[in-house]
Amino acid sequence: MITHFKIYALLLLCGLFSITGVNAQNARLANFKPGQLWYDDKGELINAHGGGILYDKGTYYWFGEKRGQHASQGVTVYTSKDLYNWTNKGLALAKSSDPESEIAAGGIMERPKVIYNAKTKKYVMWFHLELPGKGYSAARAGVAISDKVTGPYKYLKSFRPNGHMSRDMTLFVDEDGSAYHIYSARENYDLRITKLKDDYLSATTADTLLFSNHREAPAVFKKDGKYFMITSGCTGWDPNAATLHVAESLFGPWKPSGDPLRGPLAEKTFGGQSTYIQPVQGKKDTFIFMADKWNPKDLMDSRYIWLPISFENGKPFVEWTDEWKL
Ligand code: DGJ
Repeated sequence: MITHFKIYALLLLCGLFSITGVNAQNARLANFKPGQLWYDDKGELINAHGGGILYDKGTYYWFGEKRGQHASQGVTVYTSKDLYNWTNKGLALAKSSDPESEIAAGGIMERPKVIYNAKTKKYVMWFHLELPGKGYSAARAGVAISDKVTGPYKYLKSFRPNGHMSRDMTLFVDEDGSAYHIYSARENYDLRITKLKDDYLSATTADTLLFSNHREAPAVFKKDGKYFMITSGCTGWDPNAATLHVAESLFGPWKPSGDPLRGPLAEKTFGGQSTYIQPVQGKKDTFIFMADKWNPKDLMDSRYIWLPISFENGKPFVEWTDEWKL
């Protein structure tokens, strides 16, 4: 028989659980559920879109766009040891309160990526910057720097690498420590690469056109001396088909190698868009394909699609699965 006391005790327990954060939203995770709601340590939805990951001294740092319903609100950073459970470390790069600043509210910061420079001992962030009130017309690369991986990052400057428009982008650090910026240029018709200077803060003049296939959202990884790149088409926030390119050198030639995705809605990147490919530490040839399932009506509520990369005769593919673990 349910007595008043029992009901009272149950309510008390539920209250205690939500105060201590022990609820379904932040129970410890032991697998990936692509496209599902993903909560941080505080029980809040992870807000790190168009992001990338830096592995540094035993910890993964996930940097991404903090989004309001539409607004771009800076760059957030989350930390994890296992890639499933993420602790919210707040804003790595905040919007400036100075209305004259290039990173004032009203502008756009997209696709942030952070790399570590062993020579200068600085963490360097690059992102796609759009100036306040100018829509997507500025098309510039923004650079920020920090002594501490989680920031706060200091905004340094923005520019068009070697005069080229620069929208969707990624960074790639090769085994010899050389770093590269891969970016959509000429109204996204061209995909280009530029080698960074030794301090990673600027582009060198080594800047080449990779291909002119109207692609964006580049995500790059290297395996057995070969470079692989997955990109999306250009349909705004709407999903489209991904393409794989393969090269022996980052500067090309990049050979088109079809759509690497398999399974339901593969031809629309499972409803998402590529953003980054993360090697898993300590697990040989294990890579995670990261994509954003954008919700243009409420960007903050966009979901994450993380899937394992498999290989067939050395060629990568990404197969849909509802749930998986490393
Ligand atoms: C597609 C890009 O990949 C996104 O990062 C974003 O810039 C949207 N376009 C905006 O429409």
